[in-house]
Amino acid sequence: MPRPLVADDPLIAEARIAATRAYVPYSKFRVGAALSGPFGVIRGCNVENASYGVGICAERTAIVSAVAAGHRTFDRIAIALPDSPPGSPPTAFMPCGACRQFLAEFVGADFPVLIDGVGEFRFEEIFPYPFVLPDARAN
Ligand code: THU
Repeated sequence: MPRPLVADDPLIAEARIAATRAYVPYSKFRVGAALSGPFGVIRGCNVENASYGVGICAERTAIVSAVAAGHRTFDRIAIALPDSPPGSPPTAFMPCGACRQFLAEFVGADFPVLIDGVGEFRFEEIFPYPFVLPDARAN
C-alpha cells in the first residue's frame, strides 16, 4: 500500500512542471517525471510522434536525460499525470510497465516512487519481479 504523500513535496512540484512540457498532440495526455539525486533534479515529459509507437514516456525521458548527463544514482522519482481526472482509480496515475522495467535497471527495492494523487511506494511494491539478464555485464 502507498504511504500518503507530503502534499508540498518539492519533487512532486517538479513533476508537475515537467508535465507542462509534454509534447502530446495525439493523446493530449500529459505526463511529467522528476528524478532526484546528488546532481539535483532532472525532469522528463512524454514526447509523442506521428509514428505513434515510437513516442516515449515521461519516466524514460527523465532516466535517459539523467544517464546521458552522466548520472546513474538516483534518490527518488516523482510522477504527475495531470490529465487523469481527479477521483480516477490509482491505475490512472501509475507508470507503465515498460517504464518500471526501465527504472529497474538503475534503482533498488527500496527506491521511493512518488505518484501525484496516489501516494508513495517502494519500487518493489510496484515492480516486484523485474527481468534481469543472467549474465549481464554492467559498465
Ligand atoms: N505515458 C507516460 O508518459 N508514462 C506512463 O507511465 C504512461 C503513459 C504517456 C505515453 C503517451 O504519450 C500518453 O501517456 C498516453 O498513453
